[in-house]
Amino acid sequence: MTPIKRSKMKALTKNKLRAVSMSASMLILSSSVSYADSSNTADSSSTVKQSHALSVLSQSEQQRLQSRLSKVESEVERLLPQLTLEEKVSLVHAGGKFHIPAIERLNIHEMWMSDGPHGVRYEIDRNSWAPAGWTNDYSTYLPPLTAVAASWDPKMASLHGNVLGAEARHRNKDLILGPGVNLARLPLYGRNFEYMGEDPYLAATLVVPTVKAIQANDVGATVKHYALNTQELNRTGVNAKPDERTLREVYLPAFEAAVKEANVYAIMGAYNEFRGTNANQSHHLIKTILKGEWEYEGVLLTDWNVDINTYDAAMNGLDIEMGTAVESYDEYFLAAPLLEMIKAGKVPESELDDKVRRILRVQLSIGMMDKQRLSGERNTQSHRDDARTIATNGVVLLKNDNQVLPLDANKVKNILVLGPNADKRHGFGGGSSEVKALYEISPLDGLKAKFEQSSNKVNIQYMRPASSQFMPIPNDYLTTRHWTGTPSWQINYYSDKQLTKLSSESWIADPQFDAKGQPQNVEILANIKPMESGSHSLKVLGDGQVSLFVNDELLLNENAKQTTIIDKEVKLTAGETYAFKLVYQGDSKVTLGWETPNSLYNSESEYLTAAKQADAVVYFGGLSHADDRESIDRPDMVLPGQQDEIINKLIKANPNTVVFMIGGSAVEMPWAEKANAIAWGWYGGMEAGHAYTDILFGDANPSGKMPITLPKKLQDTAPISLNDYNETESLYSEGVFIGYRWFEQQKIAPEFPFGHGLSYSKFTYENLTFSQSKLKGDESLTVSANITNTSKVDGAEVAQLYLYDVKSSVPRPLKELKGFDKIWLKAGETGQVNFTLNQRDLSFWDINTNDWLAESGEFKVMMGSSVEDIRLQKSFQYQQ
Ligand code: BGC
Repeated sequence: MTPIKRSKMKALTKNKLRAVSMSASMLILSSSVSYADSSNTADSSSTVKQSHALSVLSQSEQQRLQSRLSKVESEVERLLPQLTLEEKVSLVHAGGKFHIPAIERLNIHEMWMSDGPHGVRYEIDRNSWAPAGWTNDYSTYLPPLTAVAASWDPKMASLHGNVLGAEARHRNKDLILGPGVNLARLPLYGRNFEYMGEDPYLAATLVVPTVKAIQANDVGATVKHYALNTQELNRTGVNAKPDERTLREVYLPAFEAAVKEANVYAIMGAYNEFRGTNANQSHHLIKTILKGEWEYEGVLLTDWNVDINTYDAAMNGLDIEMGTAVESYDEYFLAAPLLEMIKAGKVPESELDDKVRRILRVQLSIGMMDKQRLSGERNTQSHRDDARTIATNGVVLLKNDNQVLPLDANKVKNILVLGPNADKRHGFGGGSSEVKALYEISPLDGLKAKFEQSSNKVNIQYMRPASSQFMPIPNDYLTTRHWTGTPSWQINYYSDKQLTKLSSESWIADPQFDAKGQPQNVEILANIKPMESGSHSLKVLGDGQVSLFVNDELLLNENAKQTTIIDKEVKLTAGETYAFKLVYQGDSKVTLGWETPNSLYNSESEYLTAAKQADAVVYFGGLSHADDRESIDRPDMVLPGQQDEIINKLIKANPNTVVFMIGGSAVEMPWAEKANAIAWGWYGGMEAGHAYTDILFGDANPSGKMPITLPKKLQDTAPISLNDYNETESLYSEGVFIGYRWFEQQKIAPEFPFGHGLSYSKFTYENLTFSQSKLKGDESLTVSANITNTSKVDGAEVAQLYLYDVKSSVPRPLKELKGFDKIWLKAGETGQVNFTLNQRDLSFWDINTNDWLAESGEFKVMMGSSVEDIRLQKSFQYQQ
């Protein structure tokens, strides 16, 4: 077997690359999105066109851009020699929380950055993490990238990127800190919601239009986090040690595509270590791969406050250091310490020059010195429409037995709506990706809005079901927030019984603490704002010594028993803020609950009676940013609160119950078999409620597919079953068998497989054809099939192409996604899906030659509606 030659990117200049990327993104942006209207009231075969007024660059704008880009390199070379050593050093580290400094005498401006991946973050103070207090920094809150991934549609990625780019520009930002493309290897990972699912091919395909669309707005995209940021547990210390093949085949392709196909201007490093050194200063990741093999010409910036050292960072290709927690900007690793090393001859000035060249190149390419730079737009109607379109296209219909969905507004007159996400808003949460949304339509708002102006009277009843278990004080009453936006209780751990020696601090979303058998002295604190005035009955269930203080007044001091609830009546006033403090000393558990006047919650008999009487029940459950959030992983895959108990009861009470899940990561769904209708809506952005309502009533036909596997239980997943999830190191022991590849290899049935998603339409697959029966060398193969919409409603199918190398010298997945095509078909219509397979698609990373290798032999093409629902298959022979 001889290895194939690495398919070298054609040596395009950066200017040519930029021009190519611009025109490609314009092509995509000029198309319009349509989805089927399957409402029972309207003509079921009509197609609703959702057009969006995306600004396409005019001929003259293109010429202006070409002219700007053609001068970039000569401008870089003109400016560089004019900079003093000190000035050059000033450019490679932060001059504020989110910018690098200006050099006014040379017309080099401050370069401003902003989070984040699904909307431009509110303005943060120049020199601290505090909000700047602006009142005009609202933006369009887009559905997170998980929803884009679930659309399996490059057009949605373009829409997303365009809104982000235009709004970043309008807020005078130069780099937007997104998109994120780390893979969802572990369902517990707190940041899965920010990324594009578990599959390298899916993420690599969708990151390209996202980046192109951002950059078409004269703003640089920042693809993050390079690389292997796949857990938040000890995120700044965990050592990622995948083998080389796994690195190349699984964790790098999305970054590689962003560099080679989208000419991304910025990449952010990851917090974690890579093979023993911080990822931001890894020679292998940066000098060898990113800037060597991939010929990347943009900048690599750190994540905010990383564990690096001056020499390695300077020598191994880091260009900009951001967010370091030191007293002055001069103390940054790439500030005074770098200057000293250069002066002492320890770091050659040419290394610094390379960094400065890259920074200037990016600044010039995005027009920072161009008076005619695009000025962007923000919070426009078309951006809101785009947010809605993306949210709609990302909804995945997981199950629809007995055709519970779509709901028929002519028949379903009483709808009971429940669940923790029915009236929850998610924009302001999750960590750095938080968005100060112009507004946010909750699922309940969306449902109500549909019937508000309508002559068709549908009664929407909303209830908050109480659990039969002892409930902690709901976080709706909390005014204290963790920095990630999550309403939270602070926990102080003390090493002495007198609570004088603070040993560590943490936080929890609910006042529920488990000492797990270790004797603990803890204080659990939060500020609470009651909604009703009157007598509140505070309740503690625990095992150990508990004392409860409200505004420093001791209300309870008892030795609690796990089976006994201790009660204390206290009068509280609505709207006032009270400081609650629960002190717990013991080795077991404690929960703080209460009963309020006019409880927010409905008793079991109330909500079940209402459920039985309703024509349909919609339960909006799942996660929130108390679970899906930066800096901390979830402890388990169980639905928070007592959701499983309540869902079980609801689906028993009314078979027309729709369980509508919201969340960015997998959860266990032990009731899935019994539920008739299950949908998954991610976090839907500011238009979530409208989008979900469209799906529920068939004004839009669901077309999303799962970008992650939904396992039955956590233990089924690779990192947990291989015991490869801890604070110290991650070996990525499953190798290239991430996500569905693992489930297939281990023959474990998931709850819902990768790629799964139903439609109100039905599709058949026929006539799988190849452009040639044999493939040789670097030839490519076109694979086609006919898809027919055999139903009476217009809709879309995502045909997925999986490949299997039948005989290989290395273990290869039984199925690897290598193509997908989303096709919209009218009722009864047949269309063709087309895919191109090339040599790289057939290849694995060969560690002997350090290159891609496609081995001769049989390759099986499997095409279907999910990884488990293969409809057509056929093999071809490959000859090297
Ligand atoms: C996150 C990045 C983010 C940065 C700036 C970090 O905590 O990991 O994704 O862009 O903060 O807010």
